[in-house]
Amino acid sequence: MSLLPLLNDRFASALAQVGAPNAHPLVQQAGRPEFGDYQMNGVMGAAKALKLNPRELAQKVIDAVDLADIAASLEIAGPGFINIKLADQFLAARVASALNDTHLGVENLPRQKVMVEYSSVNLAKEMHIGHLRGGIIGDALARIQGFVGQEVIRQNHVGDWGTQFGMLVAYMVESSKAGEADFELKDLDSFYKKSKVRFDEDPVFADLAREYVVKLQGGDAEVLALWKQFVAISLTHCNAIYQKLGLLLNDGDVRGESFYNDDLPVLVGELREKGILTEDQGAQVVFLDEFKNKDGEPAAFIVQKQGGGYLYATTDLGAIRFRTRELKLDRCLYVVDARQGLHFQQLFTTARKAGFLAEHAQFEHIAHGTIMGPDGKPLKTRSGDSVKLGDLLDEAIDRAYALVSSKNPDQDEAKRREIATAVGIGALKYADLSKNRNTDYIFDWDAMLSFEGNTAPYLQYAYTRVKSIFRKVGDWDQKAAINLTEPTEHALALELARFADVIHQVARDSLPHFLCSYLYNVATAFSRFYEACPVLQDGTANTSRLRLCALTAETLRTGLGLLGIQVLEVM
Ligand code: ARG
Repeated sequence: MSLLPLLNDRFASALAQVGAPNAHPLVQQAGRPEFGDYQMNGVMGAAKALKLNPRELAQKVIDAVDLADIAASLEIAGPGFINIKLADQFLAARVASALNDTHLGVENLPRQKVMVEYSSVNLAKEMHIGHLRGGIIGDALARIQGFVGQEVIRQNHVGDWGTQFGMLVAYMVESSKAGEADFELKDLDSFYKKSKVRFDEDPVFADLAREYVVKLQGGDAEVLALWKQFVAISLTHCNAIYQKLGLLLNDGDVRGESFYNDDLPVLVGELREKGILTEDQGAQVVFLDEFKNKDGEPAAFIVQKQGGGYLYATTDLGAIRFRTRELKLDRCLYVVDARQGLHFQQLFTTARKAGFLAEHAQFEHIAHGTIMGPDGKPLKTRSGDSVKLGDLLDEAIDRAYALVSSKNPDQDEAKRREIATAVGIGALKYADLSKNRNTDYIFDWDAMLSFEGNTAPYLQYAYTRVKSIFRKVGDWDQKAAINLTEPTEHALALELARFADVIHQVARDSLPHFLCSYLYNVATAFSRFYEACPVLQDGTANTSRLRLCALTAETLRTGLGLLGIQVLEVM
């Protein structure tokens, strides 16, 4: 069992023994070193309920609690906190068993079928900076869910359906007649812009585009083939970005909006049968009392427009219905921009009413903020266009290359390129993941590429520093006993022993910045340890300390790997 549940369980039974009620969680990480390693704060509430003196009750709990094998000391502090200092031997045993385990002591969570839906780009245009956060966060969450033993389905719910595709297909036909389609499609954005210009300027073209939409929806083979071609080219663009960014997504993860097309009339029929559909000004809507406006009127979740057209919301209902009935998901994480928050709340509420969600299923909007420019507005290029993701990734790698070259001018070119890719992409990802995903942040190349502070380069460098120790040592006894004697050894072992709790927390709450702060803490605890405790002295290695180094390296490598960030043996 990982540390927090272990301590919580022991205190829960102690409270039960002394007849006190308990409110979980009882134990938390101590905020300051003088509070010990953990602090139990469940006594005050219990004492109040029992009308007892809290410090007296704390003493009873200390007498009752069974922590002989775990804690070195338990102390009452302040109004009735219990400060817990873990035993060095206990921590040493934890380090040893983590080193023996490919999952570093992280136990599987109860098995679930979990979908992580992310990226979900609209295929008409090239990927831009607005797609960066969802891709990075979703990828990290998918990796973490897999690491804790879940059956993970990655899903790229691409926007591949709707009126603009009629326009694009019409332009494909037109430009291929002129023999230019292949060439023009290399730049999706300008292809889109040009077709929009044609649509706006030429009513004959616009009519043709509308005709194609109808044909597309009617399943016309010729138009469908053109549409498929367009989708394939767009996905090639996306795949190149995913690859450069090191995301797991591939064609097998794509299930676009078009997939649900045939289900839409069926599901609207089901909503009608359920009696939750109302006709409102010609549109089919579900009224949601849960979302009343200022005047007390319920919000209308529109599922079919006047005239019969379906919407984004309808497709999402189709997807939920499919994910429940066919895929039988226990959990679904929708990693999508926070500005779609209301849509998802209304979607989940409607799906519950419609019976499209299993009772136990957790469908969650994993919202993220926006990447801002230095002016505090969403980041744009100088000319006011959205920043293309391909360009941004290239710039990250170029900047890292310049940095690496200035630090290591003598290293060979290929090696510098390899390091630059890991550092540049790592920096971009880590800068994002290390912030609470719910907030916006200001994009800052210098900060993310700094070798100091809570950044990817700092952690990647810390990893190579640890690894360099082993190159100096050569063969050593990897099963050597671990003895923790110095305070910095205790502090490092404690950090390392927390790994499982942190991973479990992120798997539950989908907040990867907790994993980032944790890894940063590991790296700083290692630095303090390394300064205070010689590992190699007069040609002999301290094998106990080497084992701490080994787990530090593995924890950094695994933790960064779960964030989708590569480490290097040398930098
Ligand atoms: N394609 C949508 C957009 O670009 C995002 C889709 C999010 N996922 C969903 N199931 N609605 O805005």
